Amino acid sequence: MIRVRVPATSANMGAGFDTFGIALKLYNEIEVEETNCENEIKLFGDRYDEDFKNNLTYQSIIKTYEYCNTPYNGFKIDMSKVNIPMSRGLGSSAACIVGGIFAANKLLKDKLSVDEMLRIAVSIEGHPDNVAPALIGGMVTSIAGSENVIHSKVNIKSNFKYAAMIPNFKVGTSDARKVLPECFSRNDVVFNISRAAMLVSALNNGENEKLRYAFDDRLHQPYRKKFIHNLDEIFARSKELGAYGEFISGSGSTLLSIVDENNIDYFKNMSKFLKGLENEWKLLELTMDTDGVSEV
Ligand code: HSE
Repeated sequence: MIRVRVPATSANMGAGFDTFGIALKLYNEIEVEETNCENEIKLFGDRYDEDFKNNLTYQSIIKTYEYCNTPYNGFKIDMSKVNIPMSRGLGSSAACIVGGIFAANKLLKDKLSVDEMLRIAVSIEGHPDNVAPALIGGMVTSIAGSENVIHSKVNIKSNFKYAAMIPNFKVGTSDARKVLPECFSRNDVVFNISRAAMLVSALNNGENEKLRYAFDDRLHQPYRKKFIHNLDEIFARSKELGAYGEFISGSGSTLLSIVDENNIDYFKNMSKFLKGLENEWKLLELTMDTDGVSEV
């Protein structure tokens, strides 16, 4: 039996739509065992998934076996240890995919390289920004589209805290992708390129004072903010409390802000602010995961 631990991830990070993602220290655990019997998939709350063919972890396991031309019978999968909330923009699907591929690769005695696992993961997820950091940890920038996924870890000089503000309402990624335009103006494209490049360079140089300009975005957030109640007020309060920047995590509904590790009042004051809003919001104080998925 293989047991793996896979981190939550936050994609886009403002201007890096479908490109940037960061792994966070919030984990799901998945256990996988190959059996000669029927498939058995245990979910959170000790329920069992009867519809295993549509289970993302199961699909990722069999895709990995098929990639390796290895026959299989059944799998016993335990996905009951869940901390990453679903449909909240924290990479719960990527965790299922990467956890399944990584566990399958362990069962197959590490036949695949990291790049091969990433290729399978992107073929299932469709974009690399969550699966790449879930697999290798840290903040990752990726280029997908051709067969190989080109990826690079961003060297973040400072230690930050990441405030995940998670509401009680969900946003489905496919709905949130449907509202995006197919084409953008040259001004908007230049706006995003300049922010995305500034983000990588400022993080690499430890120029934290420049981060305030680096998270703005015109490619997805303006079209998605209607799904997230009180986004403007939360962003404004976060700025007042001294965060370096804030953005929609993935396609939402979670909002993420980046905070100096010495800004000790941020979480207390933000928690108080969130309690005064109409929806229920949970605030998590997280740090970056640097390793990605691992066997435990
Ligand atoms: N880059 C993706 C999006 C992340 O924003 O749609 C969500 O999976």
